[in-house]
Amino acid sequence: MLSGKRILLIVAGGIAAYKTLDLIRRLRERGAAVIPVVTRAAEQFVTPLSLSALAGEKVYRDLFDLTDEAEMGHIQLSRAADLVVVAPATADLMAKMAGGHADDLASTLLLATDTPVLVAPAMNVRMWQHPATRRNAEALRSDGVRFVGPNDGDMACGEYGPGRMTEVPEIVAAIEAALAGGPLRGKRIVVTSGPTHEPIDPVRYIANRSSGAQGAAVARALAGLGAGVVFVSGPAAVPPPAGTEVVRVETARQMLEAVEAALPADAAVFAAAVADWRVANAAGQKMKKDGAGAAPALEFAENPDILATVAGLAEGRPRLVVGFAAETEEIEANARAKRERKGCDWIVANDVSEATGIMGGAENEVMLISAEGAETWPRLSKDEVARRLAQRIAEALA
Ligand code: C5P
Repeated sequence: MLSGKRILLIVAGGIAAYKTLDLIRRLRERGAAVIPVVTRAAEQFVTPLSLSALAGEKVYRDLFDLTDEAEMGHIQLSRAADLVVVAPATADLMAKMAGGHADDLASTLLLATDTPVLVAPAMNVRMWQHPATRRNAEALRSDGVRFVGPNDGDMACGEYGPGRMTEVPEIVAAIEAALAGGPLRGKRIVVTSGPTHEPIDPVRYIANRSSGAQGAAVARALAGLGAGVVFVSGPAAVPPPAGTEVVRVETARQMLEAVEAALPADAAVFAAAVADWRVANAAGQKMKKDGAGAAPALEFAENPDILATVAGLAEGRPRLVVGFAAETEEIEANARAKRERKGCDWIVANDVSEATGIMGGAENEVMLISAEGAETWPRLSKDEVARRLAQRIAEALA
C-alpha cells in the first residue's frame, strides 16, 4: 500500500511519542521509508537510537548539522518526501507551525516544505481546548494541513477528554488516505452523519433511528478518491471511517458549530439526520416524578438547519453543497422543492416508505436531483451509492 513512499516523520516532545515507535514499524511493514526528525523535547521521551533502529535511517536532530554541504540541506530534506507526518504534534509545535516560526529543525522543515502535511495532535485536554490552540488548529486547517485526531480518552496526566493521540492503526489509515492518488487529492470535504441527541435533562435525550451507515460510506468513498474528509458525526451506531478527521458531536447546535469550524471546504455533504427540534426547557438536573402523577411538559425550539445555513453562506460557501432527503411520497417533487428551499446544489433523495425496506437496510435506491434535473439510480448497496456519489462529486470539482 505504501511501497516506494517516503515519509518524513517529525516527532515532537510528548508522552505519546512512545506510540511513534510502533507507527514506524507499521509504516515500514507497508513498504514506506520513514525518515525521523526529533525536536529537543522529543528526545526526553524517545531516544534517537530507538527511532533510528526501527526506521533503519539516520535520525535528524539539529538544524546546524544540515548546513554542512556534504549533508542533505534542510530544504532538500523537507521536500524529498511524499508526506510530512507530525506525530505527536504538541501544542507548542502547532503554535510554531501556525505562526510560521523556524527556530529549530522541525519547525524549519515544516516551513520549508511543499509536500502535504498530516498532524496527529497529542496534548492535555485543557491545552487542546484552549482558545489559542483552537485558533492555531483552525489556521493550520485553512493552510491545508490535514489532521488525524486527537481522540477522547484517559490521559497520562490523569485527566479525561480530547487530546489523546490517535491510535497507530488510525494514523496509518490517515497516512494511506493522504497518499492515495485519486481525483479528489488535495480537496477538502465536510460530511455530516448519524443522528443528533437533544437532551431533556442530564441523563435523557431525544434521538432518531439513523445508523449513520450511508454517511460513513460516503465519507469512506470520498477519502478513497483522495479527499481530505472531515467527518462530523452524531452518536452513530457504525464506527467512523478510517482515514478521515472525525469530529464527534451530540446536538444539532454542536454539529453546526463543528461544520462551521471545519470550513473552508471544497464540498460539503449533509447526510446526518439532524433533529428538527431541541428541548427548550431541558432541565439542569435529572427530572423526578412528583408523586402526584403529573408528567413534565416539554417545550421545543427549532434547531438550526445546517445544510441551509452552509448553502446560504455569502462568503466561504463550499463550491458544491449536497443534501439528502428521505421522503415517503412524491419523492421527486418534494426533493426538487427541498433543493430550492435549502439552496443546495444537489439532493440525494430516497423513498423510505416502509415497503422499500431501505430504512436500516444495506441497500438504497436514490434519485440525484440537480439543476439539470433528476436522475434515477438503480437499487444498489449503500456502499455503491456512496462510490457513485463520490465519483460524481469528483467530476463536479474537477
Ligand atoms: O429538511 P430535511 O430534514 O428533510 O432535510 C434533509 C437534509 O437537510 C439532509 O441533508 C440533512 O442532513 C439536512 N439537515 C440539516 N440540518 C437540519 C435538518 C436537516 O443539515 N437541522
